[in-house]
Amino acid sequence: MLFNVNIDHVATLREARGGIEPSVLEAALIVEKCKCDAITVHLREDRRHIQDVDLFTIKQGVDIPINLEMALSEEIIEIALKLKPKQITIVPERREELTTEGGFDIVKYFDKATSMLSVFKGTGILLSLFIDPDKEQISASKSAGVEIIEIHTGEYSNSLTTDSINHELDRISKAARLGKELGLQVAAGHGLNYTNLSSIMKISEIEELNIGHSIISRSVFVGLERAILEMKKLVEV
Ligand code: PXP
Repeated sequence: MLFNVNIDHVATLREARGGIEPSVLEAALIVEKCKCDAITVHLREDRRHIQDVDLFTIKQGVDIPINLEMALSEEIIEIALKLKPKQITIVPERREELTTEGGFDIVKYFDKATSMLSVFKGTGILLSLFIDPDKEQISASKSAGVEIIEIHTGEYSNSLTTDSINHELDRISKAARLGKELGLQVAAGHGLNYTNLSSIMKISEIEELNIGHSIISRSVFVGLERAILEMKKLVEV
């Protein structure tokens, strides 16, 4: 299982005061020290947490790969081409949302997305689409020619009743199976935490996790290194 740590919310805390602390580079170095597989960062169009300079500082400062989450916009694509991360993950973005709500609709935006993504051909950058666990989205992702799908686990994470939790787990596991059958690498993320991760870990087709908010939240009380290592232990079972 690939375990990528999203450090956006270290930058959220920094931006609350507009200064230089806490340092995202220091956070990235701790992710590296914990031997995680990648650092995940989302450069949002409104730059509410990660800033352009953070991306290049992290790239220069650590040796582990970067998974850049980004909206499909010309401006962000240009930055991604300069940064050359190992992987980009396409997410939908609305300025007024608190966090990424819902997956990228590759069915609806198929022509526009495939045309915009074609600039990454030959760059060696792996393409991932953050999508809802729906059959049509997975088939369209395959047709779009990406290597990876990241299944949005937000509905699962927000579910409060056993019925809805089981319903969401069933959707995620069917989606993961279909993705794998189609030859896609299957990732998952959003809202995963120290308690809800165990059911996701039972879905053997999922090969990559991107987890941020719960780790950074826990780090306030136990420190980032311990928060990451506690999650890593759960990921490695
Ligand atoms: N994966 C994707 C594509 C995301 O957009 C996010 C949130 O930035 C995450 C994973 C991590 O979600 P969380 O911070 O809730 O763990």
